[in-house]
Amino acid sequence: MRKLSVAIAAAVVVVGGLWAGSMTKPALTIDAQAMTAPGNAAHGEYLARAGDCMACHTAKGGAPFAGGVPLATPLGAVYSTNITPDKSHGIGNWSFEDFALAMREGVTPDGRRLYPAMPYTAYAKVSDGDLRDLYAYFTTRVNAAPVANEPADIPWPLNARWPLAYWNRLFHDDSRFKPDDAHSVEWNRGAYLVQGLAHCGTCHTPRGVGFQEVDLDGTSARYLSGARIDGSSPVNLRGDKGTGLGEWNEADIIALLKTGRTAHSAVTGPMGEVVEHSTQYLGDADLHAIAVYLKSLTPLSDDAAAPAYKADDGTLTSIMTGHANDIGARIYIDSCAACHRQNGEGAARVFPSLANNPSVLAAHPDSLIAVILAGSRLPSTASAPAPLAMPPFAWRYDDDEIAQLATFVRSAWGNDAGAVSAADVKRVRAQLGIEAKR
Ligand code: HEC
Ligand code: HEC
Ligand code: HEC
Repeated sequence: MRKLSVAIAAAVVVVGGLWAGSMTKPALTIDAQAMTAPGNAAHGEYLARAGDCMACHTAKGGAPFAGGVPLATPLGAVYSTNITPDKSHGIGNWSFEDFALAMREGVTPDGRRLYPAMPYTAYAKVSDGDLRDLYAYFTTRVNAAPVANEPADIPWPLNARWPLAYWNRLFHDDSRFKPDDAHSVEWNRGAYLVQGLAHCGTCHTPRGVGFQEVDLDGTSARYLSGARIDGSSPVNLRGDKGTGLGEWNEADIIALLKTGRTAHSAVTGPMGEVVEHSTQYLGDADLHAIAVYLKSLTPLSDDAAAPAYKADDGTLTSIMTGHANDIGARIYIDSCAACHRQNGEGAARVFPSLANNPSVLAAHPDSLIAVILAGSRLPSTASAPAPLAMPPFAWRYDDDEIAQLATFVRSAWGNDAGAVSAADVKRVRAQLGIEAKR
């Protein structure tokens, strides 16, 4: 039975491969001026930061942009590749057109199809001029590193790349960002960055059956409405109160992207890396443009009539009078209240508030569970050094205790998010590779 299915899969690969091989490479439309212009490498460096190329293309302790970072896909791990100007392993022999084809269509000069773990679905929106500057940076300012690429951990025959040509046909829109005249120049700049280089949707937009982002250009309310990936839950960035950014103002969004914290909230997990390697380097005008764009996104839920958050001191009273005898509340008092306080509000700029915090209230509790298990350290940024840390609790409590604690935190002080199960905690432990309490 197994042999037969492998044989069928192999036949499909051969026939499909021949068929796909006859498909021509996608055509590129590039402005004639951008084709010949030298490109501004310094601006390209700024854009490489905005695009966070570093996060995926630099391995821990490895040479900058030499690749080798594993990225999980539903089929198995894919490794990022060497994008330094090394002639045998990197992109040293690539023309600008070759580079543009990879960035917009996910196709390399030798016809290899890239997995969409490389966010070309977002980078396709980048303008010709910006792409030229990125190319100038990577080919003239980055050091060539002779590091060979690693093959993906995807078993044969699923590792055939031709089906990706069909994936592109179904899910990839390779057109450039289209400005919307109904909005200001600043809004359009924000939309261009968020949808394009900054690829916020790669993490914050939910994915469909083909692992594709369900909306890439903000035409529906599912765009940036929150998702779940690799033991974290990128929050809803739309106008919802509580679970989204409805009660944040532009200054909060700018502070978060620049320093990793607001007066009441802090980044954790993958978002910490986004701030550390990418958004802290954005100029004030670009950060403001991003905030203007995000604040224009309508709520996912029809919550126009929903009341704003109101602190409920019932929790506080029951803790103070010793009546909080459920396990979650007791663990909270023992292990969390010293920093986050009994009223859950923490201390401005030092300990984030757990009351009315999007990453506590998120539809998926993964980020909340992850921070309890693994702790967190605020990224050190140029404008806010001295990182503060939260200790890990993975070895102090078992899955059931952590589930009860998380359920308490999601329902205390006026929070009203759903319960967390021990199975949720077990799954996040496995995704983060953290052993269970013995
Ligand atoms: C979310 C992770 C991620 C980010 C961010 C990212 N890449 Fe990639 N990139 C990948 C992966 C993974 C591959 C290899 C895919 C494969 O082998 O199918 C890749 C491949 C490439 C390739 C093809 C090179 C080759 O020979 O395979 C180029 C060029 C490239 N990336 C450029 C960039 C640039 C420029 C940026 C920043 C603007 C960037 N990438 C940001 C994940 C990423
Ligand atoms: C690599 C994945 C990833 C990318 C890319 C990403 N985010 Fe996030 N983001 C997360 C995760 C995970 C969280 C939830 C954890 C947390 O609250 O810090 C989050 C949280 C946030 C929060 C709420 C923080 C808080 O304290 O509640 C904001 C605002 C945010 N992201 C904005 C953005 C913007 C704007 C972009 C694009 C410039 C972006 N993110 C790109 C993963 C990502
Ligand atoms: C020693 C002080 C300390 C203790 C004890 C502590 N925390 Fe934290 N916590 C912090 C700091 C500092 C941060 C911000 C760090 C960061 O975001 O990287 C934080 C962040 C968080 C966040 C993320 C908030 C956000 O805006 O995304 C959550 C959720 C959280 N803590 C919950 C808990 C829970 C539940 C406990 C008890 C098991 C606990 N903390 C114990 C200091 C502490």
